[in-house]
Amino acid sequence: MDHWREKIESARSLAELEEIRVAIFGKKGELAQAFARLKSLPPEEKPRIAKELNELKGDLTRLFESKKEALQREALQKRLEAEAIDVSLYSPRPVGGALHPVMHTMDRIIDYFASLNFAVENGPLVEDEFHNFEALNLPDYHPARDMQDTFYFKDGKLLRTHTSPVQIRTMMRQKPPIRMISPGAVFRRDFDLTHTPQFHQVEGLVVDEAGKVSFTHLKWILEDFLSTMFGDVAVRFRPSFFPFTEPSAEVDISCIFCGGEGCRVCSQTGWLEVLGCGMVDPNVFKAVGYENVSGYAFGLGVERFAMLLHRIPDLRSLFEGDLRLLEQFQ
Ligand code: PHE
Repeated sequence: MDHWREKIESARSLAELEEIRVAIFGKKGELAQAFARLKSLPPEEKPRIAKELNELKGDLTRLFESKKEALQREALQKRLEAEAIDVSLYSPRPVGGALHPVMHTMDRIIDYFASLNFAVENGPLVEDEFHNFEALNLPDYHPARDMQDTFYFKDGKLLRTHTSPVQIRTMMRQKPPIRMISPGAVFRRDFDLTHTPQFHQVEGLVVDEAGKVSFTHLKWILEDFLSTMFGDVAVRFRPSFFPFTEPSAEVDISCIFCGGEGCRVCSQTGWLEVLGCGMVDPNVFKAVGYENVSGYAFGLGVERFAMLLHRIPDLRSLFEGDLRLLEQFQ
């Protein structure tokens, strides 16, 4: 029966061929039906027709198998072509990602202190007044506690304005001695040429038995840290004030743009402020229940370090996500 041959021959895909197989060879297919009709034939015709049918079945089966093989070969060929990879294709340079300069700077700072055995501590970004202010000896009337400066939530919580609350959390969780840094994001209601509402700080805290930690240690480690980061610069400590340290100092490096001669970046002073620090105020130890200890603390702004290290003139370019800037840090 030629129409079956034609059908098999005409199949254009394996799926189509499968449909045809069911129609011809299936349990209720045309061959099965033809065999079923044998029963109703006169007995003298049966052997001949049965023989013909069996031969036909054999022919069709062979035809089907070879068609199937051909279609499978064709499908494989198509797939090989579609999935081919041209290994000789020229590609200039794989495009890799890169750390943002702020994160890269943060990593460098962390590496320095980690190499001196400082533990890295983290704290929540959403803080409460106790950890962010009160325990740090920042009284109610301190301007930082004003709505103008701090992002408050309706329930009285706030976005931490510095990484110093992590000092408090660490001291309340552990017994002295403490030797930690805490890197992370901080938030202030401030947005202009030199301020962004979110930026990053690294906090440092060292506490040990009274008398074991002094300003000398603080001075040595910060000088060593700053020369590791900036190379050959002069470092000076200027008396200053923070509620949570006493005495306190701000730390300057000689201007890396003019070498201390005086230029626009350093406002003709020859110095750039890079750090705040001091000896932990006794009121802070009282708030966390520490007795007979002494310690030092410091805090720095990572964006400022990144800008100085990479000579990025405008703070805002660190937050714009402009690929032309970021690609320079690959
Ligand atoms: N928390 C201070 C700030 O945000 C920085 C600081 C930390 C100063 C620790 C002294 C000691 O400005």
